Amino acid sequence: MRHHSDKVTQVSRTLPTPQRHADQVAQAAAQRAGVTVDEVVSPGRLKDVEQLFRTVWETDRDRPPISADVLRALVHSGSYVAAAYTADGRLAAAGVGFLATDVRSAEVGGTESPVASMHSHIAAVAPGTERHGIGSALKLHQRGWAIRRGLRSITWTFDPLVRRNAGFNAHLGAEFVRYYPDFYGEMADGRNAGQGSDRLLARWDLQLPAVPRVAVEPVGDRQRLLEPDGDGRPVAGTIEGDRAWVATPANIEQLRRVDPDLAGRWRIAVRDAMEPLQSGWRIDGFTAGGSYLLVRE
Ligand SMILES: CC(C)(COP(=O)(O)OP(=O)(O)OC[C@H]1O[C@@H](n2cnc3c(N)ncnc32)[C@H](O)[C@@H]1OP(=O)(O)O)[C@@H](O)C(=O)NCCC(=O)NCCS
Repeated sequence: MRHHSDKVTQVSRTLPTPQRHADQVAQAAAQRAGVTVDEVVSPGRLKDVEQLFRTVWETDRDRPPISADVLRALVHSGSYVAAAYTADGRLAAAGVGFLATDVRSAEVGGTESPVASMHSHIAAVAPGTERHGIGSALKLHQRGWAIRRGLRSITWTFDPLVRRNAGFNAHLGAEFVRYYPDFYGEMADGRNAGQGSDRLLARWDLQLPAVPRVAVEPVGDRQRLLEPDGDGRPVAGTIEGDRAWVATPANIEQLRRVDPDLAGRWRIAVRDAMEPLQSGWRIDGFTAGGSYLLVRE
C-alpha cells in the first residue's frame, strides 16, 4: 500500500517549478513565432543589436540608443542582452535589461531592504516583422531568465501615447504603476525629438502569472476623462464616479510626422488626464480600443 507522503511527492514531481513553467511558456512562444531566443555575447552580434536599435529609433550612426561596447559590459557583468533569430539566422528582435532594485523597495524611503529586480531598458523587433509574436517571445524569454535568477520584478518605461506599446504591455500582463512627466528630458532621436519624454512605468511582478490586462471599454459618453473629437483633437472631460477612461490617439508616431503641434497637444492632454494618479487613483489596464482605465483605489 502506498504511503500518504509518497503520494505528495509524486504530485509535486509532476508540477513544474515556477522556473520551469516560465521557461516552457517562453519556449512555446518562441516556437509559435518561429524564432530562437538566446543571450548575445559576441562583439559581432552585439554590433548587429546596436544596428537594429539604431534603425528602429532612427538615430545617427554615432548616436545609437545603446552602443555595442555598453552592451558588452552589461552582458559581461551579468545583465540581460538577448536576441531572437529566425530559422535562417536573421536577427528578428533584441532586448536589454539591467540588474536593478525593485521599484517598490527602492521607493519606501530605505526602510525595506533592496530586492533584486530587472529594469528592461530597450526592446524592439526588426522593422517588417511586427505582429508575429516575436516581441512576446522575447519578453517571455526575459521573464524566464529573471525568474531563474530569483528576481522580484521586471520594470520598463514606455511612451503612454504609443497605443501599440500600451496594447503590447497590457497583452503581456504588465501593471502600469507610475506616470513620469518628461522622464528623460529632451531626446534627440527621430521618434522622440520635440515631443517631451513622458513615460509610464510598466511592471511585471514575477510572483504573479503573466495574464493579459485588457480593460473594458466605457459605455456611452460618461466617464471619459479624455477623448478625441471628430477631427482627432483631444477633448478633456470630468471625473464622475470611481472609473475614468483616458483615450490615446490612434497613431501618435504618424501624427508626430504630419502634425507635430497636435501631437504635442495630445502629450499635454494625456499628462493632465493622468493627474488623478497623484491622488489615490491607479491604472487598471488598457482597452482594446486604445484607452487607459483609471480606477479610484
Ligand atoms: C512593441 C513591439 C516590441 C511589439 O512586438 P511584436 O512582435 O509586434 O508584438 P507581438 O506580435 O508579440 O504582439 C503581442 C500582442 O501585443 C499587442 N500588440 C502588438 N502590436 C500591437 C499594435 N500595433 N496595436 C495594438 N496591440 C498590439 C496585441 O495584443 C498582440 O497580440 P495579437 O497580435 O494576438 O493581437 C514592436 O511593435 C516594436 O518593436 N516596436 C518598436 C519599438 C518599441 O516601441 N519598443 C518599445 C516596447 S515597450
